[in-house]
Amino acid sequence: MAHFLVSVIFVCIILPVIIVSQFNWQTRDSFDTIRNKLDKVTSENCKVLDVNDLFLPSDTITHVPDIKTLGIDPVFPNRTNLLHIHNMAVTRAFYYSYILQKAPDNEEPGFMYYFLSTIADVAANRFINSSAIYFAPNMSFTPSYKGFFNKTMPLFAPRAFRADDFNDPYHLEGTSTLNTIDAIDLGAIPNYVMSSNYTHEQYKINDWYFAWLPDQTRRHDSKTTYTVQITHFNGTNETFVWHGPPAASDNPGPVKWTKPYFDCGRSNKWIVGASVPIPDIYPRHTGWRHIEIPTYVAVAVLELDFDRVDINQCPIGEGNPRPNYFAGTARCKNRTTECEPIHGYGFRRGGYQCRCKPGFRLPRVVRNPYLGEIIERATQEEYNEGFHCKNINYLMVMTQNVEKVKEEERLLYIGREESLMGFDNMTYSTRLDPTVVVNYMRRKVNRFTCEKIAEENPESLILKGDIAFGKENQLENEARTAIRLANFISAMQQIIDPEELFAEFRVPDRPLNEDQVIGEVLANVIANEKIVGCGVFFNRNQFPNRTLFAPYAYRTKRNTQNFFVEDMARHRGSKMYLNKDWFQHLKVRWLTNTDDLETYTTKIMIRYNSSGHYPIRYDHYPLQYKAADIQHGYWTSPYFDCKGFHNEWLVTYAAPFFGWDKIKSRLEFKGAVTVSMKLEELDINQCPDNYFASNAFKDTHKCDRKSSRCVPILGRGFDMGGYKCECKQGYEYPFSDPVTYFDGQIVEAEFQNLVDNKPSRFDTLKCRLACATTHSVNSVIILFVILVHTLFTQSNVIFNHCY
Ligand SMILES: *[C@@H]1O[C@H](CO)[C@@H](O)[C@H](O)[C@H]1NC(C)=O
Ligand SMILES: *[C@@H]1O[C@H](CO)[C@@H](O)[C@H](O)[C@H]1NC(C)=O
Ligand SMILES: *[C@@H]1O[C@H](CO)[C@@H](O)[C@H](O)[C@H]1NC(C)=O
Ligand SMILES: *[C@@H]1O[C@H](CO)[C@@H](O)[C@H](O)[C@H]1NC(C)=O
Ligand SMILES: *[C@@H]1O[C@H](CO)[C@@H](O)[C@H](O)[C@H]1NC(C)=O
Ligand SMILES: *[C@@H]1O[C@H](CO)[C@@H](O)[C@H](O)[C@H]1NC(C)=O
Ligand SMILES: *[C@@H]1O[C@H](CO)[C@@H](O)[C@H](O)[C@H]1NC(C)=O
Ligand SMILES: *[C@@H]1O[C@H](CO)[C@@H](O)[C@H](O)[C@H]1NC(C)=O
Ligand SMILES: *[C@@H]1O[C@H](CO)[C@@H](O)[C@H](O)[C@H]1NC(C)=O
Ligand SMILES: *[C@@H]1O[C@H](CO)[C@@H](O)[C@H](O)[C@H]1NC(C)=O
Ligand SMILES: *[C@@H]1O[C@H](CO)[C@@H](O)[C@H](O)[C@H]1NC(C)=O
Repeated sequence: MAHFLVSVIFVCIILPVIIVSQFNWQTRDSFDTIRNKLDKVTSENCKVLDVNDLFLPSDTITHVPDIKTLGIDPVFPNRTNLLHIHNMAVTRAFYYSYILQKAPDNEEPGFMYYFLSTIADVAANRFINSSAIYFAPNMSFTPSYKGFFNKTMPLFAPRAFRADDFNDPYHLEGTSTLNTIDAIDLGAIPNYVMSSNYTHEQYKINDWYFAWLPDQTRRHDSKTTYTVQITHFNGTNETFVWHGPPAASDNPGPVKWTKPYFDCGRSNKWIVGASVPIPDIYPRHTGWRHIEIPTYVAVAVLELDFDRVDINQCPIGEGNPRPNYFAGTARCKNRTTECEPIHGYGFRRGGYQCRCKPGFRLPRVVRNPYLGEIIERATQEEYNEGFHCKNINYLMVMTQNVEKVKEEERLLYIGREESLMGFDNMTYSTRLDPTVVVNYMRRKVNRFTCEKIAEENPESLILKGDIAFGKENQLENEARTAIRLANFISAMQQIIDPEELFAEFRVPDRPLNEDQVIGEVLANVIANEKIVGCGVFFNRNQFPNRTLFAPYAYRTKRNTQNFFVEDMARHRGSKMYLNKDWFQHLKVRWLTNTDDLETYTTKIMIRYNSSGHYPIRYDHYPLQYKAADIQHGYWTSPYFDCKGFHNEWLVTYAAPFFGWDKIKSRLEFKGAVTVSMKLEELDINQCPDNYFASNAFKDTHKCDRKSSRCVPILGRGFDMGGYKCECKQGYEYPFSDPVTYFDGQIVEAEFQNLVDNKPSRFDTLKCRLACATTHSVNSVIILFVILVHTLFTQSNVIFNHCY
């Protein structure tokens, strides 16, 4: 108790002195600078602060996904959210540019289309906090007012953002559901109020607008063109060419990132976003082609919270290039350890760990590399004493003249692995060696052989589901793209009533039409290189005026500007989509009961009249609809798409959408959205896992099990060796190398040599008992000391001179 009092007094005296950090040894750094900047701005004072106070330097967000290197460099887990924002913004821009140029004026999206689309972006993606389309002045035509032909609205900007709903009367739970979304038309302002005019400099935070707009170009060829060939139900082909956002090969690419900024007067949070331009032909209906020019008329902007984006505190180096505002703020002891970022920390100190440098090892009492979080909380004394690594004596050089391993040892090594996994028989074992599967996939099955295989043994073109283990994580962004579209279609089908009558000259939205659905699937494929095909498949008699309707968009090669859409309703027999397993599965699962679906609540503020003026509540306020979330969808087993559009091993995710039945009494299954990805792009995980993890390759690594453990390496794709063997506690890496682990690819290659009875170093790929060399010299002394120690203290503390 006395201790406690003393320390309380101590803290009270000392506290005012320490302002910047917990402990004296921690010097003030660039993290504190940003922290102070964040704390300075509040929702009350942001209106009067200088504009510079509302922005952070752009290098506080590093490693932003670059469309030019996507598909070449792996995207790490710490950047998948940014990548998704990137892709979603590109999707929206492609969709609107396509539909604005393709559809006749009265078939263009109406108000509710814009609102429900931005709402779906937020609803289907938990970490996306806002989505918006901002039109430039006098650039937005709309079918939502009677007699509005060839007229434009002064400003139009539907924006949806997630609301904190714990205090909301519509949710009785009293917790935040993340399912309440506010939407407002930011173009609904009176004339000449510059501070609420988002195209005006006085708006302060509209970086996203000035990234692309206003567009002053007067040239006809300034926008990149894209081509799509659409094969309709009746067999006719239609080719459409339109102007879209910049392509990956253009400079700059399609996406500009904003600096992190304080979303003053709106969500009042620090956010960061991606902005993509939307071109259209402007002005319309002049009768003169030469003055109707492709122009950027709007930007699509998607945003997420700044504090959710991981920072990298490690020093500049490989994997952490300049500029990085937070570089070098990690507190690793750089003589013996090196810093490595850990993902998932967001804007918080301590998102790193300190590993031993090559030539060093952890003290024997320490099991894992030092966590940044723990170092940050250490007292000065703890910091001075600990968190460093020990020197490794006698580093060896990996032998160059490789010899054959002795036969009995060879059999021992092979036998040990063979008993763990099916080695040359795919149907036999529960655990498969990836070599077997990869050989089968690449060598045996291809576009020329697959038809014969399909005739003889159709099952062999379908692999077991657990072979695509990890798809839920690694392909989550792609699955969410499907969920977003399903969410949007559900909302349209449940909310839009074309018969409804509104006051004044407002016209209700029409139901989805063919062009719109085609545009949506097409945009999903264009915007995400990982998606090779995306389709919307309507159940029988669920699309207006069509028995069956199923546009499927696909690409035939990478980095192309030509795309294809085919109405799958053309096909009968085995290609008939109603008979596919994913369609059947979803249909049966959602036949009787839709209670499990998520309920989304939206509050929409539309414009008072066509000139905007001020926002008013939409006639139904709030609105609710139900839609599927990611766990309500269905993953297929990996399959070979024989004589389809791809002729490759694919895995498909299908998301259901729902609308009212004929008498509007209950929800029913209306169809599904699918996205297909290449199996080749999935990383396989050969490391051990829980017994319930259904991973066909679980625990098939070839690390020495006694001295090392397997840690996955991301980004190596569907191939063996995507792991490293790290030394376990009490062992050390014995070689003089720039790394401190055995690379899985080398381990696998050496093992293959062993199997092929070639010279192999497999027997040397082991960690060494820490201190083993000095041990033997001094063992007599140690024995003696232990003896004395135990005799005199009568405790069984194990003494070890290696510490
Ligand atoms: C933004 O999204 C995150 C989830 O990533 C959530 O925790 C946060 O509360 C959201 N922001 C707002 C304003 O709701
Ligand atoms: C937009 O149109 C209105 C009405 O036609 C006009 O008064 C205004 O000047 C136009 N604004 C711009 C920026 O062209
Ligand atoms: C908004 O500002 C732009 C100039 O940035 C101006 O052309 C436009 O007329 C303004 N709109 C309204 C409604 O005030
Ligand atoms: C085929 O269908 C498309 C779209 O529905 C239509 O535009 C086209 O005129 C049709 N062609 C024929 C020959 O019917
Ligand atoms: C339409 O295109 C498809 C695929 O490119 C082709 O197989 C088909 O023959 C074309 N149909 C017509 C009528 O040109
Ligand atoms: C449509 O508007 C443009 C520009 O405002 C004008 O030049 C054109 O004559 C109009 N066309 C029609 C058919 O009204
Ligand atoms: C994300 O992870 C990769 C791989 O671990 C690393 O190279 C990169 O620096 C990390 N980026 C951030 C911002 O933490
Ligand atoms: C190690 O850290 C110190 C202090 O943080 C720094 O001055 C020094 O340059 C660093 N050395 C290396 C090799 O990074
Ligand atoms: C694989 O194992 C099964 C079951 O033991 C056996 O019937 C089959 O012949 C084996 N196939 C090969 C290629 O060894
Ligand atoms: C369906 O067809 C009827 C008659 O051809 C037409 O009046 C109606 O507009 C069509 N509905 C849609 C949604 O296309
Ligand atoms: C919209 O409402 C305002 C205020 O009532 C009015 O001044 C304006 O003329 C209206 N615009 C249209 C197009 O009716």
